[in-house]
Parts: sequence; structure tokens; C-alpha cells
Amino acid sequence: MTDTADQVFFNPLEPGYIENPWPHLAEVRAADPVHHLLTGQWGLFRYDDVFTVLRDPELSVDDANADLTMLDRSRLLEELDELEPSRSILGIDPPDHTRLRRLVSKAFTPRTIQALRPRIQEMVDEMLDQMAADGHADVVDRLAFPLPFDVIAEMLGMPESDKESIKVWSGDLVKTLDPVLTDDEILAARSSAEKMNALIDDVIEWKTANPADDLLTAMIDAEDGGDRMSKKELRDQVQLLFVAGHETTVNLIGTGLYELLKHPDQLAIIRDQGMPATAIDELLRWVSPVQISRRVATADLALRGKQIPKGTFVLTSLAAANHDPEFWGDTAETLDLHRENAGQHVSFGSGVHYCLGASLAKLEAEVAIGSFVQRFGQADIVGEPVWNGRINLRGLESLIVDLT
Ligand code: HEM
Repeated sequence: MTDTADQVFFNPLEPGYIENPWPHLAEVRAADPVHHLLTGQWGLFRYDDVFTVLRDPELSVDDANADLTMLDRSRLLEELDELEPSRSILGIDPPDHTRLRRLVSKAFTPRTIQALRPRIQEMVDEMLDQMAADGHADVVDRLAFPLPFDVIAEMLGMPESDKESIKVWSGDLVKTLDPVLTDDEILAARSSAEKMNALIDDVIEWKTANPADDLLTAMIDAEDGGDRMSKKELRDQVQLLFVAGHETTVNLIGTGLYELLKHPDQLAIIRDQGMPATAIDELLRWVSPVQISRRVATADLALRGKQIPKGTFVLTSLAAANHDPEFWGDTAETLDLHRENAGQHVSFGSGVHYCLGASLAKLEAEVAIGSFVQRFGQADIVGEPVWNGRINLRGLESLIVDLT
């Protein structure tokens, strides 16, 4: 930890942070909950502040509102801006956000998502059968990653593709969501963004010529009172869905299973009594698969006696909010699958940008984790897991388990 007698600095580069960020987050939250980071952004660490700011229309998600002289991320934004900034719904404000979200969300109604359950169960069963035959497995490689990847690819109606390359490109892209980046990471993100854009353009062209009963065709055809997406708008939404569809849920399933294996009393609840209704929400709170969300202050903002200037990036620590004892009480640092108010976590954000894929992610996790535990309730972790090195989309790269 980088600190002086009376000051604490949020430093996610501190050794051991990725493996266990919770003590450091607790320290910053207690000592300086509205915190000016050394990298220029401001960070919010208390549940109440995070919840309020995420819902405040005075804050924007559009980088164009940021004063780039105030921080060292300008290089990244310049590099990516040469490719034209993304107009995905994650990075635009109302009224454009409202218009585009309405077009995209047509394919995410609760009924459409629930209808996927048998197919998701079938995919999970196949993956578990293969793992059982081997007697041991890397559950990230065999279940946590391929399940959300295959589900979103199938929903979109993507053609068969080179999964390994796409995994590398989308990994490079989501790394840019971290608060601190190296030059190499910036260059890798730029190159991968170019490759991903080209791939999505090809896929849209192919799908336009080969329409089918899938999400991509629905998005190409999407019309709302005569309103259609431009070619670039369409590409950016498809890319967001594709990347957000798997880079987040992998962490809920992978880290969620790891945490259950480390908490045998909680794992036994699922194995012996079935999945409590609050279980997946509690795992979402506990793991916080997206640890940070981002806003830009469009006016000066006063919070807990601090002045956050207009144009500043405000990082809301969803992870710190999800473990804040002022909100969750004495049991904030206890994994409790029966926690009654677990659903109040902020893992999916809040307000108009609330995760569009929340029900899909929960359904995938419920089927994957529930089925794994029913079948391999006595699994043992082999060796140490490998972390993915990401500050924001923190999760496991590899988790080997013995299933015999
Ligand atoms: C455990 C899994 C997931 C987590 C933790 C998660 C988390 C989040 C968060 C925190 C946001 C809001 C960011 C903000 O307020 O700035 C968000 C937005 C979004 N997510 Fe998810 N997500 C998950 C899975 C998914 C899936 C499976 C999909 C799609 C198939 C998806 C699609 C989206 C989209 C499109 C948005 C943008 C919504 C908007 O800006 O209006 N997410 N997600």
C-alpha cells in the first residue's frame, strides 16, 4: 500500500491486489471514500455514493465530456479516437442512449431470455459430461468461458469463428476498462479494436445476405417508429453485446465456483437443498465481476466535503460498494447465500445504463453453477488458480479441479 501517516492512496498495482483486492478497498473506503486518485480520476467507494452517482443524470458516460488534460488516459483515448469513438450504448447519454437502447433491448425481454433455459442446460450438460470423462478439468477453460461465449454467439447467430483469436482481441479491449494502463496495453487494444471492427463488419455483411431467426438479424431489421441504426451504430452495439456477453459472466461463473469451493458450508447448501433464490445475487455481490463503472462529471460535484471538478472521470467502485459495512452491516465480509437483501448489490450498475444482459447472466450462472455443484459437489481445487491480471473485469484465467 502506498500511504503516509494520514493519507491512503488507491493503488491497484500493489502486489497481491488482483488476488485479493478486498482489504485494500476496505482501507480506502474507510479512510477516504471520495478519493482523488494519483492517476487523475476521482474514486467513490461507499455504497450510498456509488448508488446515487450512477443514477444521477448530471453525470455522463460520454468520454467527449472529459477534460483530458486532467489525467493520463488521454493517450489511450487519442489512440482509440483515431478509429472513431465507439457509439455503443455503454458510452452515450440520453436521448441517443434511449433511442438505441430501445432498439437493442427488443431482443432481451425476460420471456426471450427464459426461453433459452433448455438450450443453456443442454450446453452445460455437454460440457460437464466431457469434464467427468476426464476426471479433472480447468473449469474456466471448459465451462466458465465457453458457456457465455457460445450462448451469446448463438443468440447473435455469429458464424463459426476463430474463438482463440476473438478471446485475445476482446481481452485486449476490456483491459482498457482498467484505471491504469501501460503503453503496450494501449497499443494492443488499438490493434485488437481494428481486428474486431473488421470481423464484426464482415459478420454483419454476411448476415445481411443470410438473414435468420437470430439477434443479429433482428438488430439489422430493428426499427422503432421508422428509426434505424446507422451502420456504425449497429457495429458498435453488436461488438458491445458480443464482448459484454462473455467477458463478464466468465468471472461470475469461474470466481463464483472458486469461492464456493473455498466455502464448503455454502457449497453444501446448493448441493443438499438446491439453489436458494438469493444465491446468484449473493455471488454477484461477493465476486463483483465488474469491479468499476465510470462516469464523467458534467458540472462541479460536491460530495462529502470534497469538490470534484467538471470534466473529471469519476470511478464508482462497485466492488467496494458491494462490501460496504455501512450498507450491508457486520456480515458484509461473509458469503451468505441466504442473504435476504443480496439483490441490492450494484454489480450490474444502476440507473439508465443498468446491465441489459443481467437476466441472461444470472440464468447462465444459475444453470452452470447449480449443475456443477449437483454433479461434482466433492470437487477439490488442484494447486493455485491463475488470475487474469485485470483490475476491473477481475477473474480467473484458470482453475483446475479434481472431479474424482
Ligand atoms: C455477470 C455478468 C455481467 C455483469 C457483472 C455486468 C455488468 C454490467 C454493468 C456494471 C453495466 C453498467 C455499466 C454502467 O452503469 O456504467 C453493464 C452494462 C451493460 N451490459 Fe452487462 N454485465 C454482465 C453480463 C452481461 C451480458 C451477458 C450482456 C449481454 C449479452 C451484457 C450486456 C450489457 C450491455 C449491452 C450494457 C450497456 C447498457 C447501457 O449502457 O444501457 N452484460 N453490465
